[in-house]
Amino acid sequence: MRPGVVRLARCLAVLGAVGALLLLGEVLFTGTVGASSAGESGVGGNALLRQGKQVFRFDTFGDQAFWGDALQLHKAIEGSANGGIGPGVSPKTALAVGLKVDATVIPAKLARAIKAGKVDLNDPKTTLALLKLNAVVGIKGFFNKDGRLGSMGITCALCHSTVDNSFAPGIGRRLDGWPNQDLDVGKIISLAPSVKPFTDLLGVDAATVKKVLLSWGPGKFDAELSMDGKAFRPDGGSAASRIPPAFGLAGVNLATYTGWGTVTYWNAFVANLEMHGQGTFFDPRLDDATRFPVAAKARFGHVHNSPDLITSKLGALHAYQLSLAAPPPPKGYFDPAAAARGEKIFDGKGRCSSCHVPPLYTEPGYNLHTPAETCSDPFIASRSPTGMYRTTPLRGMFAKSKRGFGADGRIPTLLAVVNNYDSCFKLGLTAQEKSDLVQFLKSK
Ligand code: HEC
Ligand code: HEC
Repeated sequence: MRPGVVRLARCLAVLGAVGALLLLGEVLFTGTVGASSAGESGVGGNALLRQGKQVFRFDTFGDQAFWGDALQLHKAIEGSANGGIGPGVSPKTALAVGLKVDATVIPAKLARAIKAGKVDLNDPKTTLALLKLNAVVGIKGFFNKDGRLGSMGITCALCHSTVDNSFAPGIGRRLDGWPNQDLDVGKIISLAPSVKPFTDLLGVDAATVKKVLLSWGPGKFDAELSMDGKAFRPDGGSAASRIPPAFGLAGVNLATYTGWGTVTYWNAFVANLEMHGQGTFFDPRLDDATRFPVAAKARFGHVHNSPDLITSKLGALHAYQLSLAAPPPPKGYFDPAAAARGEKIFDGKGRCSSCHVPPLYTEPGYNLHTPAETCSDPFIASRSPTGMYRTTPLRGMFAKSKRGFGADGRIPTLLAVVNNYDSCFKLGLTAQEKSDLVQFLKSK
């Protein structure tokens, strides 16, 4: 090629790359997928996001074989009056255990009847109607031809979505990525007519399984139980972790409180090993029978299902999750003047930003620390292959503060977090500085 042609070719290649980057930017950062007009017009890249949103909200990856067929949870929902078992799950009960309802798919006539108090919220039949509408966030009903509930599965949205309560408490528009802080996963599983899959896996009796499940409480789940079989902390307390947000993770290196892997690593882990979907998963770290006796025995590090209902969806799921930005706090949630003073302490005397680097609020790069470095309780870290804690990204604080702080919520308030750092790092913060720092954290 002549030099001029080469130059033109290079120039076009660069332009092509810029175009691709712009497209990628649009794909990853439109935030509210579907709400944007581009999202609806079928731009190639946005189709990936739309697919990811579908997967996140509605895909069970075939896990109904576990939650329905094996645990028989759908029978507990139906209740004996509808051909199931026990009293059934009314909408009141469902809301009481923290399940959320997507108001946008409720037909206007039904919505008016609910508002007018003409719908029996104590009748499991109403729950079945809501399931048919696909209105129960994170729960998917599989109905037989005769209209009976034949099985049910769960989706990512069960734990990582909530609603804005715009219709009524627990009923409103979906907020994808927000942790469901009210969801009592353990209590829900304990309603299952059969907990045999758990007794088999853990090698304990049904009464013990139920005791463990009921120890978790709202907004918590123990993802490591079926790896290491540790049902309680050494001091007898609950071993569960707070359900974290799935928003604000773009740019964050390692995921989970203890950095098990990247976001897409963990998505594959959860879909296969926690939701019990049918896919493929590989992690030889789980072969360590000393640390992960349950996982090693069950060969959780070597899962192969055919057909694989998970792997082909991981790309779209990853893209969608990275598109979920952390929400800003509502007006009045913090004192702006105090937060501005607090930011100076965060970056200066408090030394916070040496690890929580703005605007990610975790380290760009390798973001793990030993529990001793931050004077943190070591139990949860000890259950991860890393043995470490990831520097928690601090964004969206208002949406995740209900269950305390730290992986398991054992630190009750932000002031208690700050007090821990004050003594750990010998910072000598005054009461005013501490309170300003708390206001800054609340502003994130
Ligand atoms: C039963 C509740 C539950 C379900 C369902 C669930 N998760 Fe999670 N998720 C958790 C808990 C609890 C953790 C914290 C685990 C830990 O740190 O040990 C977590 C952690 C995460 C994280 C890491 C967040 C961070 O701060 O780094 C991501 C990402 C995530 N989940 C995505 C998903 C996706 C995608 C799905 C569906 C495939 C899913 N989760 C299904 C409960 C759930
Ligand atoms: C050496 C690195 C490091 C420094 C310095 C540091 N942090 Fe952290 N931070 C971490 C790690 C690691 C965690 C997770 C530990 C855990 O969960 O116990 C964490 C967790 C937190 C949390 C809990 C978030 C949640 O949702 O559970 C808050 C709040 C926090 N840090 C604020 C601060 C403030 C304020 C400062 C300065 C006074 C600070 N951090 C200094 C590494 C650091």
